[in-house]
Amino acid sequence: MKRSIIKSTGRHLPDRYVLNDELSELMETSNEWIVQRTGIEARHWVGEDEDVGTSDLAYEASIIALERAGWKPEELDLIVFATMTPDVNVPGSGAFLQNRLGAKKVPALDIRQQCTGFLHGLEICDAYIRSEKAKKILLVGAEFQSRYLELVTENRDTAVIFADGAGAVCIEAVETNEDVGVITSILHADGKHADALRAGLPARKSGKAISPTVIKNKEHFPYMDGKTVFKLAVTLLPKVTEELLLKANMKVEDLNMVIPHQANLRINEAFRQRLNIPEEKIYNNIQQYGNTTAATIPIALDELMEKNMLKPNDTIMFIGLGAGLTWGGVIYKLI
Ligand code: COA
Repeated sequence: MKRSIIKSTGRHLPDRYVLNDELSELMETSNEWIVQRTGIEARHWVGEDEDVGTSDLAYEASIIALERAGWKPEELDLIVFATMTPDVNVPGSGAFLQNRLGAKKVPALDIRQQCTGFLHGLEICDAYIRSEKAKKILLVGAEFQSRYLELVTENRDTAVIFADGAGAVCIEAVETNEDVGVITSILHADGKHADALRAGLPARKSGKAISPTVIKNKEHFPYMDGKTVFKLAVTLLPKVTEELLLKANMKVEDLNMVIPHQANLRINEAFRQRLNIPEEKIYNNIQQYGNTTAATIPIALDELMEKNMLKPNDTIMFIGLGAGLTWGGVIYKLI
């Protein structure tokens, strides 16, 4: 039976490092508020004058992952690119990345799904591998969000949270009878909460996509009903964890590490306490990176690998929730 194994990882964060104090010079906020309410101390943003796109961030993470896997870009069967901030509206960033990698005619699939983009990507890659449609896949989560934030008091809730970065994994089909690699995944969506977290451009249900009214109403900036999303997260993340564990016939104690999406440290702490997960078994890095949306989980995985915090046969769980509303998780066993 073919199993999906993460052979290597890579990450890239832009050089510019923005401390909370820098933001408090631009809007009414403070380091104290941001740390207390979100856990974020700093984040990486692309420099204001840099000529960089989301696919460039993804490229840097991808070449690290490819080199660690010992793969040439043209050997890939598929590139899956998860982002909600593509370089341009059309075409998708996967095409830009494929070209920069020199990955010949390798198909490049862009997916959205915002904060659960990487989780959806993992499930898609696993389906390709189990159905023997692909043997070597590059899965990337990358975001360039800083330039679509409005750095003013009115939009300070989103301005202090979102950040730039990329994480990449090389996923390989391995023939084995053992229960390893992607063990199981569960994904959910509930479109009735679609308005709780959204950005209005570049598409629109009625009227012209770009008009003075759209700009006046600031529909082009992300809008978030933070309280609603917060409440949904602390309820739905423990629930889907229970579903995942039941499906995999496991208990919380069987998990060696939990890698949650990094939206708010308080959400992750509430989730940890609800499920009685020991502190050392959950990994957070939002303090230094903010919320890099589709990139948070692969960046965290790469850090854990680099710090030798995972060992063979460890079982890990990726979990997340974001705009859509979409939420879900993946249980993965290292070989
Ligand atoms: N600095 C200072 N004050 C801020 C602020 C900031 N950056 N952002 C909001 N505030 C203010 C609000 O205006 C409000 O002021 P008021 O009481 O005078 O109206 C006050 O702080 C409390 O706002 P509230 O929205 O209740 O804060 P909160 O504790 O819910 O924290 C979030 C706001 C956005 C941090 C939090 O709701 C959150 O993280 N939500 C979930 C985010 C998420 O998971 N997103 C999905 C994945 S991307």
